[in-house]
Amino acid sequence: MNVSENPPEYRAGKEMSYLPSLEDAWIYCDGEKIRDYGTMNDLPEAYRNADESYNAESRLLMPSYCDPHTHLVYPGSRELEFIDKIKGLSYVEIARRGGGILNSAALLAKTSENELFTMSSERIREIMRMGTGAVEIKSGYGLSLEGELKMLRVIRRLKDAFPLTIKSTFLGAHAIPADYKNDKEGYIKLIINEMIPAVAEEKIADFIDVFCDVGFFTPAETSRILEQGIKYGLRPKIHANELAHSGGVKAGVDNNALSVDHLEFTAEEEIKTLLASRTMPTLLPGTSFFLGIGYAPARKMIDSGLPIALASDYNPGSSPSGNMNFIFSLSAIKLRMFPEESLNAITLNAAYAMNIEKEMGSITKGKQASFIITNKIQGIESIPYSFGSSCIKDVYCKGKRVI
Ligand code: NIG
Ligand code: FE
Repeated sequence: MNVSENPPEYRAGKEMSYLPSLEDAWIYCDGEKIRDYGTMNDLPEAYRNADESYNAESRLLMPSYCDPHTHLVYPGSRELEFIDKIKGLSYVEIARRGGGILNSAALLAKTSENELFTMSSERIREIMRMGTGAVEIKSGYGLSLEGELKMLRVIRRLKDAFPLTIKSTFLGAHAIPADYKNDKEGYIKLIINEMIPAVAEEKIADFIDVFCDVGFFTPAETSRILEQGIKYGLRPKIHANELAHSGGVKAGVDNNALSVDHLEFTAEEEIKTLLASRTMPTLLPGTSFFLGIGYAPARKMIDSGLPIALASDYNPGSSPSGNMNFIFSLSAIKLRMFPEESLNAITLNAAYAMNIEKEMGSITKGKQASFIITNKIQGIESIPYSFGSSCIKDVYCKGKRVI
């Protein structure tokens, strides 16, 4: 059983290999929280007759995955573009033709809040079964005041309907909508003057995001939008360097972002910038896999002393999967991360990237009783090794069994 008596806020560099554990262990949960744990030779008599018990002999118990970057509230799907990709079109080419995010935005305008809630609920059930206990979800397919609020309201309803922890992010600056095709400045003004105040008024988002990349928003535009978000109490978590060296890392760090995400393109200088900050570099290898683009230099980042968090990026265009077990495999196979490093990256560090490290991300007294019980496996390395199949037997979320 992975346990952390006094975990730090996150683990960086060599510390990412540190994964304390107990053999032949017991855990005692009280309602939604972890109360106590230890080894079987010191199990207190009082705990022997708990209301409910579970024998996890020969299995592993580990903290639930935290997925700190998704767009899982979306209408329909984009298989047609998938075929275009097979034919050889790139993500950027599809976006330039008015497809990509704008395709989903057009569909979202025709989808009711209830329909969107039903589709998204199905995805939440799916990721819970695959071990995710906390997830961040972004807006960004509305691209109008009404559409963005519709998405954020769906996320709020999901928060109330499911036991997993959900954080929401306002991503009005995900693309330039079709009506503003030749008036990007007009759209930025709409975000700054109308959307951010309205989102803050409804207290409907925890964070603010901008897609800072070539063909989308520049670092200067990103900073303007983030500054307004910060004024309204929204901490930045941004998309940076997915399509090119966008300058997004510096824009994020300058604005005290909680995380900068993607980083498929990362320069030496940016590693230094991140080292001098408390911003979490969050890598999304599912996107590199699905788009067939390069992977972020994770090994170099960790060896330079940086922390890393991992996320699925679950979205219809660049990573239509929220399976964190597969992300675990990709991190080993493509990012050359060791299983201990990956587990820290998808639990404690990922929790930090959502500002929930005090409640989630490790098996610690007082944290949420959200954990995974595996099949009878060799060790945590069996999870990335068995790519494409599941090593999960049971999942608990806030003390309740969800599968
Ligand atoms: O993280 N890069 C921007 N957003 C998503 C893709 C969204 C979409 O294509 O629908 C991403 O890759
Ligand atoms: Fe994304």
